[in-house]
Amino acid sequence: MTVGRSTAPDRQNIYLVGFMGAGKTTVGRLLTERLNRPFYDTDGLIEQRTGKTISQIFEKHGENYFRMTESEVIRETAKSMGAIIALGGGAIMHKENWQVIQKTGRVVYLKWDPDTLLSRIVSDKSRPLVFREKASQRRERLEQLFEKRKANYERADIIINCHEGIFPGEIVEQILYFLPEAIR
Ligand code: S3P
Repeated sequence: MTVGRSTAPDRQNIYLVGFMGAGKTTVGRLLTERLNRPFYDTDGLIEQRTGKTISQIFEKHGENYFRMTESEVIRETAKSMGAIIALGGGAIMHKENWQVIQKTGRVVYLKWDPDTLLSRIVSDKSRPLVFREKASQRRERLEQLFEKRKANYERADIIINCHEGIFPGEIVEQILYFLPEAIR
């Protein structure tokens, strides 16, 4: 049975979305402790399923294959009841993924200033979308990617404004504050 918006709120999933470096996995784990619900991280599930790291998948099979696997994993995890699900930064760019997540839960966007995100990820060797860019063009290309995605992130049900110095625990408190009472 799939969960839908008409399902009781405590059975709906909570999806964490945002650009690379937004802290979706860290916040997801903390939220899980607070709400005592299962936690899934779609990148982690993709790595488990393929037996490869995200970088190896991009390198050996290309981005399209990664996106296909990502959509499959999202479709399957969306069948959970009341889970917390951290999505990869690009997942919201696919219409089908959006439809699935909007139907089956609440979407929470961890919104940061792009400069803060870029400083965090610019030297990260485990993120193929970062290291595939020449160092000299990296910031500019990632800024463009963020701009392209921004409007989709903003379609989330709940937007958390994060800022330098905020602790993951404080982000969790804000999410709890904005979630419908029945979910908390
Ligand atoms: C991606 C973000 C990554 C991972 C993959 C592609 C993206 O996840 O899914 O490298 O398109 O932004 P994080 O957002 O967890 O870094």
